[in-house]
Amino acid sequence: MRVEEKLLFTALEKRGVDYERIDPRGVIFALGKNGLERFDAMLVRCLSHSRAYYLTRCLEDVGIPVVSPHRVVATCGDKLLTSAALQAAGVPIPRTQIAFTPEAALEAIEEMGYPVVLKPVHGSWGRLLAKVNDRHAAEALLEHKTTLGGYVHSVFYIQEYVDKPGRDIRSFVVGDETVAAIYRNSPHWITNTARGGSASNCPITPEIDRISRAAAQAVGGGAVAIDILEAPDGRLLVSEVNHTPEFRNSIAPTGVDIPGKIIDYVLEAATMKSGRQK
Ligand SMILES: Nc1ncnc2c1ncn2[C@@H]1O[C@H](COP(=O)(O)OP(=O)(O)O)[C@@H](O)[C@H]1O
Ligand SMILES: [Mg+2]
Repeated sequence: MRVEEKLLFTALEKRGVDYERIDPRGVIFALGKNGLERFDAMLVRCLSHSRAYYLTRCLEDVGIPVVSPHRVVATCGDKLLTSAALQAAGVPIPRTQIAFTPEAALEAIEEMGYPVVLKPVHGSWGRLLAKVNDRHAAEALLEHKTTLGGYVHSVFYIQEYVDKPGRDIRSFVVGDETVAAIYRNSPHWITNTARGGSASNCPITPEIDRISRAAAQAVGGGAVAIDILEAPDGRLLVSEVNHTPEFRNSIAPTGVDIPGKIIDYVLEAATMKSGRQK
C-alpha cells in the first residue's frame, strides 16, 4: 500500500464511511453479477495499468460507479490515446507524431527537428523517456528499441521537446474543480517527483484552471492529475493526464486535502447510485 492509499483510508475513516479494501491480486472476478454490486462505488487505485483497465470494465458492467471510470483509464493509460483525446478536444499539446517503423520514426524525428522526446505509450514516473539531441542518438535509440524493446516500443511516440523553465506543472482536477497545483522543479528535464523533482505550490491561475478542467473533461473526467508544460512563448501545453494520481508530495506545499477531495467525490458517485436505486 502506498502513502496515498493510507491517506485515502484515513479520509474514509474520518467521514465514518463503511468501506472495504479489496486487493485484486487475491480475487477472482466473475463476469456478470458476482457480489461486488453490493458496493455503492469503487475507487480503483491499482498501480498496474492492466489490472485497472480490466477491473474498471468488470465493475462498470454490474453498475458500480468507478473512479476513475474505464474510459478514463483506457485513455490515460496510453499516452497516444491521451494526446489524441486532448487534440480532438482542442486542448493545446506539444506537437506529437506517431510512427510504426524505425525508418518512419527517423523521418518524423528529422522533420520535427532536434531535440525531440520519445516516450513509451504506456509508462509512468518518467521511465524510458528519451530526449534525442541528434541524428546519431536517434538512430541508436530506434535500433535499441527495435532490437531490445517489447510491444510497447514497437509504436514510436515522438514529441516536440518543450524548453520549459526548469519545472513543469502538475494540477489536480476532481469533478469539475481544479483543486490544487504544484510546480515540479528539477535541474533534470524529467521533473517527476519519483525522479527527484521537488514540489512547491503553484497558484491556480485562470488559465491553469481552464486548461486543467478542459484536459480532464477531454479524457472523460473524474479525479485526475494533469501534467502541463510551459512553452518559452508562454503557452501552456498538456503533456499527459494521470488516472490514478499520486499526491503525497502535493498536500503540504498546497495545503489542500487532496485525499479528502477524492473521497468526497467518490461518496458523491455512491450517493448517485443509491439515489437511482430508490
Ligand atoms: N515534450 C516534452 N518536453 C519537455 N519535457 C517533457 C516533455 N514530455 C515530458 N517531459 C518531462 O518529462 C516528465 C515525464 O513525462 P510524462 O509524459 O508525464 O511521462 P510519465 O508518465 O513518465 O510521467 C514530464 O513531467 C516533464 O517534466
Ligand atoms: Mg507524468
